[in-house]
Amino acid sequence: MNLANNTVLITGGASGIGLALAQRFVQAGSQVIAVGRREDKLREAQAQLPGLHTRVCDVASATDRQELLRWVQAEFAQVNVLVNNAGIQNRLQLTTDNQDWDTLRQEIVINVEAPIHLAMLFIPHLQQQPNPVIINVTSGLSFAPAAFAPIYSATKAALHSFTLSLRHQLAATPIKVLEIVPPAVNTDLGGAGLHTFGVPVDAFADSIMERLANGEEEVGYGTSEEIRQASRQEIDARFQLINNR
Ligand SMILES: NC(=O)c1ccc[n+]([C@@H]2O[C@H](COP(=O)([O-])OP(=O)(O)OC[C@H]3O[C@@H](n4cnc5c(N)ncnc54)[C@H](OP(=O)(O)O)[C@@H]3O)[C@@H](O)[C@H]2O)c1
Repeated sequence: MNLANNTVLITGGASGIGLALAQRFVQAGSQVIAVGRREDKLREAQAQLPGLHTRVCDVASATDRQELLRWVQAEFAQVNVLVNNAGIQNRLQLTTDNQDWDTLRQEIVINVEAPIHLAMLFIPHLQQQPNPVIINVTSGLSFAPAAFAPIYSATKAALHSFTLSLRHQLAATPIKVLEIVPPAVNTDLGGAGLHTFGVPVDAFADSIMERLANGEEEVGYGTSEEIRQASRQEIDARFQLINNR
């Protein structure tokens, strides 16, 4: 994809991977709108990245998603790129963590329901724009799950699957469908300090954006680049490695 001259809507664009992608789109000459729930985080991101536009929206709410499309059409009708990046990660023991289901299912709603609904809501709008693109942010765990985050891993496998179907269905339209497959990246995903073992976000984002600019459709980095192309045997070996530490 061309990284310049876009108007890019990034869910979860105020922190971590979303903010790193936002910075690179802006540097390349695109406008970016960052979406998130926390207004203070959006303000902080704006201070770091002058020119960043922001919108408070909880993608867990179907009403908020519909309102986001209405707002885009009224305020930024030129939006031609949707990045489904917002996500949460919970670690839980299925045998002992009897948390309230309404709390647990938020991970499914935010990580799967929201990107599917947003893609479907935005397709008619994107079809009217030049160079339209939908980018879904999945995970290396889409391919080999981390059992300590069982719902999360399942949501990312589902989003990878949906991305393949979306690309297939949109093949005859101008909308390109791209997938970013991060490995563990050093962000605050799941809570501060839980991903410090991950790769630096800037090195990851530089590599991903370069490859998207070169026309690749599905891009990983380090271990996620390996796993997205692995054989079943290699996936099983990776599963053992992740889960038997
Ligand atoms: N870091 C990793 O190791 C890693 C690995 C593989 C995949 N990923 C994926 O990369 C994406 C970005 O994660 P990250 O690592 O950058 O973590 P992060 O810094 O925690 O970013 C997640 C972002 O999503 C937003 N968000 C969460 N729930 C939302 C909601 N209901 N509505 C709107 N925005 C919401 C958060 O903002 P608010 O809380 O303000 O809403 C936050 O800005 C996620 O999809 C994650 O699953 C990350």
